Amino acid sequence: MGILDRFRLDDRVAIVTGASSGLGATFARTLAEAGADVVLGARRIEKLDETRAAVEKLGRRAVAVRTDVAEPDDCQTLVDAAMTEFERVDVLVNNAGIGTAVPATKETPEQFRQVIDVNLNGCYWMAQAAAKVMAPGSSIVNISSVLGLTTAGLPQAAYSASKAGLVGLTRDLAQQWTPRKGIRVNALAPGFFTSEMTDGYQEGYLDSQLPRILAGRIGDPEDLATALIFLCSDAGSYVTGVTLPVEGGLLTS
Ligand SMILES: NC(=O)c1ccc[n+]([C@@H]2O[C@H](COP(=O)([O-])OP(=O)(O)OC[C@H]3O[C@@H](n4cnc5c(N)ncnc54)[C@H](OP(=O)(O)O)[C@@H]3O)[C@@H](O)[C@H]2O)c1
Repeated sequence: MGILDRFRLDDRVAIVTGASSGLGATFARTLAEAGADVVLGARRIEKLDETRAAVEKLGRRAVAVRTDVAEPDDCQTLVDAAMTEFERVDVLVNNAGIGTAVPATKETPEQFRQVIDVNLNGCYWMAQAAAKVMAPGSSIVNISSVLGLTTAGLPQAAYSASKAGLVGLTRDLAQQWTPRKGIRVNALAPGFFTSEMTDGYQEGYLDSQLPRILAGRIGDPEDLATALIFLCSDAGSYVTGVTLPVEGGLLTS
């Protein structure tokens, strides 16, 4: 097998949560470009259908399932749909997430819990359901954030805690599943990438962070998708339990 062939995902099956917009939609298309069929989960089914159509245009099969990752039953249903349609799950990309910025003295228990429920607990429910059916050689990638490793000027206790929690979750699931099941578990820690989430930032915020980014620019979603393909394909077969920053050098400051 040639070195570049190890990045191919031909005939593998990948689940992507949060595939209705932003990075998740790019991940779904990129996985399809690498050869995978994809199973798409998020709450906005009409937006998921747009991603499904984009994947089918690339010549791969896709299934869209309305999913709230905060609900363990929905996570099981998404994995069941993959098994019904494709009879296997090789890759899980835990990408669904919400971002908030609320001063700690003002944040309500419900606000804090909702972020943890989606960003951290949702990844765990998905990983639990997927690991039961994944064969050796499979791979899980959790989408953490640089906010799990540093601060960036906004009051983001809930978001940062959820993303730092994913670093620990990733390490522990790798420890449990790589030796016993042959499932690799890794995380990506993205810096700033254009998406619906970053579109929601107040004007001037991204510019305020630019001086920290050695590459001198906000990331393009495809800069991240290439790292995803590395982690979830055989190219990354000796990598497990790590959180890989893809942030243009932001973490050096
Ligand atoms: N963009 C960045 O710069 C950046 C940096 C670091 C990390 N990240 C992480 O990357 C991931 C994707 O974010 P994005 O930037 O692409 O933002 P986005 O465009 O807002 O995408 C978030 C996705 O998560 C889905 N989602 C939210 N709550 C959900 C729930 N309860 N159940 C299922 N799906 C849910 C949304 O779909 P529905 O609304 O249809 O459910 C949407 O598809 C997030 O985990 C985010 O924290 C992003």
